[in-house]
Amino acid sequence: MTILVIGKNGQLGSQLLARPNHTGFEIAGVGRQECDIGKIGSVRRVIGEIRPCLVINAAAYTNVDGAELDRDSAFEANRDGPGNLASECRKFEIPMIHISTDYVFDGCKSEPYLETDPVNPVSVYGESKAGGEKAAAEALDRLIIVRTSWFYGCNGPNFVKTILRLAAERDELKIVDDQYGCPTTAVDMADAVLEISRRIVNGGPVPWGIYHYSGQGETTWRRFADAIVKCAKQYIPLQVKTIHPITTAEYPTPARRPAYSVLNCHRIEREFGIETKVWKDRLTSMIPHMIESE
Ligand SMILES: NC(=O)c1ccc[n+]([C@@H]2O[C@H](COP(=O)([O-])OP(=O)(O)OC[C@H]3O[C@@H](n4cnc5c(N)ncnc54)[C@H](OP(=O)(O)O)[C@@H]3O)[C@@H](O)[C@H]2O)c1
Repeated sequence: MTILVIGKNGQLGSQLLARPNHTGFEIAGVGRQECDIGKIGSVRRVIGEIRPCLVINAAAYTNVDGAELDRDSAFEANRDGPGNLASECRKFEIPMIHISTDYVFDGCKSEPYLETDPVNPVSVYGESKAGGEKAAAEALDRLIIVRTSWFYGCNGPNFVKTILRLAAERDELKIVDDQYGCPTTAVDMADAVLEISRRIVNGGPVPWGIYHYSGQGETTWRRFADAIVKCAKQYIPLQVKTIHPITTAEYPTPARRPAYSVLNCHRIEREFGIETKVWKDRLTSMIPHMIESE
């Protein structure tokens, strides 16, 4: 029996296939070429042929600003995709883990978001991901949704890589300092998802539903950038001297972002024994690998 990762080439998908596998089952992956989740025929063929014991959906349209201009593509991948996967899973009684985002929230809270807080996205991307959660939950009971935030890893474009590049080229950077969230490594998220997978495929009761998983602690993009530069300077020369804090209003983007999207991760710890890790410690460990991977 096989656990099937959808979106094998993404930041998370690639780690799900690379991390140590303690599930006791083979893990296989498909990319968009083999399975376009927005197309029901494509999903039907892959699920029907492989008949996995668990589907993990790590595929998504993740370009937050791009989604404002390409609403159809965002909704096809992020709302219709999970809906298609969940309805095919239901046919064959296959459970599914689906990945979602802190951007389903509006950011108006001032304390960490709980799984039970109402969603109220402020961007097309957030709206499409909230639509995906709903579509999947309507089609499938044996479903785990894991929301994560401020994601980075060695594979794929992300904030850490952007800061490393800009810090090597420029004397000064201006970074938004009034959006709060929590950086999460793809490695830790993959391990968390694999632990949930292990529980699902090995039988026994599973507390289905929505979970939050992110790094521990909170920061702003500017403070995150400071930490990246400080850490990276131990390994490589960087040109940047100053990182100026700016407001969201001073850095207009096509998509609005929540001002505060820190996730409360107590439920995943309580139900699955999965502990979060302090984001700054994780950054310190990850930076040398990220520099090496460039
Ligand atoms: N990145 C973040 O900061 C962040 C934050 C919170 C939550 N998340 C969520 O975490 C999950 C994993 O994100 P990630 O950063 O690993 O994403 P990623 O690196 O952008 O990877 C997403 C993968 O999905 C594939 N894909 C896109 N549309 C598809 C479709 N219609 N059918 C099949 N595959 C498709 C992409 O393939 P192509 O490259 O060919 O398009 C890509 O390989 C997503 O659910 C995302 O919403 C991400």
